[in-house]
Formats: sequence, C-alpha cells, structure tokens
Amino acid sequence: MSQDSIAAGAYAGQAASSGASRGLWTSRWAFFLAATGSAVGLGNIWKFPYITGVHGGGAFVLVYLGCILAIGIPLLMAEVMIGRAGRKNPSDAVAALAEQSGASPRWRLAGWVGGLTGFLILSFYVVVAGWALAYVPAAASGGFVGLNGESSGALFGALLADPLKLAVCASLVLLATLLIVGFGVQQGLERAVRYLMPGLFVLLLILVGYAATRGAFGQAAAFLFAADFSKLTGEAILVALGHAFFTLSLGCGAMMAYGSYLPAGTSIALTSLLVALADTAVALLAGLAIFPLVFANGLEPGAGPGLIFVTLPIAFGQMPLGQVVGVFFFVMLLIAALTSAISLSEPTIAWLTERFRISRLKAVLLSGAALWLLSLGSVFSFNLWAEGTLFGKTFFDCLDYLTTNLLMPLGGLATVFFTGWVLKRKRVSEALNIGHPALFQAWWWLIRFVTPLGIVLVFLNLIGVI
Ligand code: PFF
Repeated sequence: MSQDSIAAGAYAGQAASSGASRGLWTSRWAFFLAATGSAVGLGNIWKFPYITGVHGGGAFVLVYLGCILAIGIPLLMAEVMIGRAGRKNPSDAVAALAEQSGASPRWRLAGWVGGLTGFLILSFYVVVAGWALAYVPAAASGGFVGLNGESSGALFGALLADPLKLAVCASLVLLATLLIVGFGVQQGLERAVRYLMPGLFVLLLILVGYAATRGAFGQAAAFLFAADFSKLTGEAILVALGHAFFTLSLGCGAMMAYGSYLPAGTSIALTSLLVALADTAVALLAGLAIFPLVFANGLEPGAGPGLIFVTLPIAFGQMPLGQVVGVFFFVMLLIAALTSAISLSEPTIAWLTERFRISRLKAVLLSGAALWLLSLGSVFSFNLWAEGTLFGKTFFDCLDYLTTNLLMPLGGLATVFFTGWVLKRKRVSEALNIGHPALFQAWWWLIRFVTPLGIVLVFLNLIGVI
C-alpha cells in the first residue's frame, strides 16, 4: 500500500465495518490534499467568479470572506471532528456520537441527508465538468483563435444546445469519478491531488499574469476588492453564505467522510484553516484571472453560469501558446472537479458498504446507475427540456437551488446544532483536541451561536421572511 493513502479496508473493495478495518490516511498532508481537492473545484473557478459578477463585486467578496471565517471554518472543524470521533460513514458516525452523549440515534438522519445532498450535487456537477471536458479538444484544435465576446458566447451556446455531446461528456466525467472511487483512490486520487493541484495553482498564476498585462487589471481589482456596500443586497449576503458552504464542501457529509479516515494526533483546527486558506486563494486568483478579461473585452460581469466558458477562450485565442495553455487550463479544471466529485460520492459509497455490507464495487455500480440517470436530467435542461420548468427553473436549476440553498444549509444547521447543543462539551473538546482552552472557547461560541444564526438567516430568506 502506498504512503499517504486510505488504507486497505475502505478501498479494497470489501465492506468495511469496524473502525480498525476501514483504515486511516497515513499523514496529515494526505488529508490536507484530499480535503483541499474536495474544496477546490468548480465552485472556485466556475461559480465564485460568476456569482461575484452577478452580485456586484467587492462588497460581496468581503461578505463571502466573513462567512468563510465565522461560519465555514468552524463548521468544517465540526464536520471533520464528528467524522474522526465516529470513525464511520456520516450517518453512522453521527448516530454513534449521539448515543455516546445519551441522545437519540435518530440524529443519523442528519448524516443521511448530507449523503443524499452530495449525491444530488454530483449529478449536476458532472454536467458542468463535462463542459470543461468538451472545451479540451476545442482548445487543442485552435477553436478559440480569433474569438470575440459574441462568437465565444455563440460557441458556448452551441455546446449547450447539443444534448448528445453534453451527455457523452457528463457520462465520461461520471465514469472517471466512479472508476477512481471504485478502484484507484490510493494511487489515482492521491497522485492526482499531489501533482495536479499545485499545477492548477501555477496555471492560475500564469493566467493572472496574462490578465494583468493584457486585461483591464485595475478595473477588475477595483471590482473585486473595492467594497461598495450600496450594491449589497440581502440576497447577495445569503448567496455568499450558501457559497461558503459549497466551496468548503460543507453540509453534505464529504468532510465527515474524509475526517473519518484522519489519524488521531492530527490538529483538526490547523488543517481546516489551511484547507480554507488554499480554497480561498484559488477562488480569488480565479477572479483575478477572469475579470480583467471580462472588462477588457467589454463583456458583462453579471453574465451568469457561462462566464468562464465565454471569457477565458477569448484570452486563450489571443495569447502566445494559447492552445497549450487552454488545454492545460480545462484539463486542470477537470481534475479540480474530479477530486471534488470523488468526495461527493464518498459518503454514499461508505454508507452503502458499511450499512448493507456490500462490496465497494457493487456500491459504486448501484449509485453510478442512479447518478447517470439523474445527470441526464441536467443535460436535457439546457436543450430538450429547456422549456420544462418548475417555478421558472429548469431541472438543473432546481437541483442546484435545492442542494445549495436548502439541503446544504439544512445539513450544516443540523451539524452545528448537534455539535453545539446535543453533544457534551467535554466530549467535543476531547475529540477536537485543539490545545488552547481560549481557542476552544472561541470556536465553541461560534458553533453554538454565530454559525446557527447565520444559517437560520439563509432559511428565513428562502421562505421569504427576510
Ligand atoms: N467544494 C466543491 C467546489 O467548490 O467545487 C464542491 C463540493 C464538493 C461541494 C464536495 C460539496 C462536496 F461535498
């Protein structure tokens, strides 16, 4: 078995049931890479720039950073702590801890909802990752040369209008995810994150460098960092909060599942902080790579989900070696998406194997079939079923809305309430093992009061009360 891997029990294809047989990450570095791989994904490079654009820039970014600090990091620590203390899939880990604190094992429902949320997100996540896949050959064949704002928009529109191409791309991404999850996490995932995450970082720096010299960098930096609070709406605050959940992979069991393989001595607080820092750095760099090009090409920053797929090809079409950089960029985006997709499936796969004692392969096949069918729904949302809407939203939009705005915050709320108000403080303090009483006290206060309050605000907005 390789170093830095999840040991045999969890990934060798047998049903792992006891804590001992399911194995551990062999180092803190391995956990850091896997958790960062989960956090850094389409959310950072695709979603963060476009929602920042839609919500007016700087003030939104500031609120988002505040949400990461006050809500995201404390919750990330809580999720990893629950996973490690329970040493099981999210639903059983929550049930085990509840019983230890004399509470009802029905709390397992919280973990279960998390797994379901991850499952639903994965079904549309592979569709967006499929867009990146479709852009790899387009970049390689020089298809971006000479694009301007209009023709780039038309290219993306043509992709969305092609159900077969979208379905093939999404299916390939799903297949790659399931293959890695089923057979090759030790070699596949860990190698991928070890080499390709730094690669992604370097590429983003190159793109920021390009944008700084060729784009409207000053305008973009002002857009991203000069906070004009008059532009900030209530909805923007809640979107920022929802995105803090999405980008740190919270509220859907992924970090609990990864935490369940974390060795006892590792500092949860420090590692969580580093994961959040890396995640935030990638999002801000993506903003600094994209907005200069948006402004320089007279594009609309609030263009929505197509933003990076329309703006970056223009830059790739103009820059020296743009064909190579374009291919690398979309491959890296795919890798970032894959390492997140894997973590989205892990809670369900771990639950199926541990709960029903079926092999990992069977669990992968079962969930893969269901995921594939669901993903087709998202594919058709952009073409065949584009007219078929519910409350004005397509199937894809419904899934995104339901998971990001409803299920993730609900899962997060259940987790913070469970940690701060159901579990015994002494048990939590032991499990977190933060070292400094004052730091623990600050975290405990955030978890009991600030984090739940923030999440409740999301819900009040959702049901139209605020
Ligand atoms: N954090 C990922 C991103 O920003 O793209 C998305 C994600 C992964 C959400 C894993 C939830 C999750 F469990």
